Amino acid sequence: MDIVLATRNRKKIEEISRITAGLPIHVLSLEDFPACPETVEDRDTFEGNAVKKALEVAVFTNRPALSDDSGLEVDALGGKPGVYSARYAPDAANGNDPKNYLKLLDDLAATPDEKRSARFVCCIALAFPDNRVETFFGRAEGRISREPRGQKGFGYDPVFFPLGFDRTFAEMSAAEKDALSHRGKALEKLAGFLRTVLKG
Ligand code: IMP
Repeated sequence: MDIVLATRNRKKIEEISRITAGLPIHVLSLEDFPACPETVEDRDTFEGNAVKKALEVAVFTNRPALSDDSGLEVDALGGKPGVYSARYAPDAANGNDPKNYLKLLDDLAATPDEKRSARFVCCIALAFPDNRVETFFGRAEGRISREPRGQKGFGYDPVFFPLGFDRTFAEMSAAEKDALSHRGKALEKLAGFLRTVLKG
């Protein structure tokens, strides 16, 4: 079965290919469909954006399509930055810009340690050309640090301690983060679904 990954992000393509390796699927990406229009991510939930993107690509390419949407929810900020994680700081260039986590640390400056709980959330959507959609969620609970630590990963990794650890995601190897992360968990659920579907 062909599956089109609804992304041009090389890191995501590698990660999804790694986790679905061994399954009888042939992974394509938007690089194979350069004329596919860019989806406007204007929904106010991770699920809304992931489903919209996967459906648009499935219908355009006439093949099953996979997309993900993810972000950070901070309890003391009522769930922000949420779906706006990539552009939380108004002048941030993208989701990897340290301005985003520096604004977050600033906004939480007066928030005590016991109220700094947060989670990364990932929703993966698998859509079919007949408009059928399956969704898979993963969550990584944790708390926001007082200062950035570590050089690895991306986005908010330097300010996020996963539950039970005194090291941030940015201080962990890729394999260690994959085992704990929201995206790793959602991808494992997707892989389980594909294994079942492709067996039957
Ligand atoms: P998107 O799913 O590519 O739209 O990503 C949304 C944004 O959430 C990213 O640009 C990052 O700022 C943030 N984010 C999502 N997943 C992670 C992660 O695993 N580590 C750090 N930041 C993340």
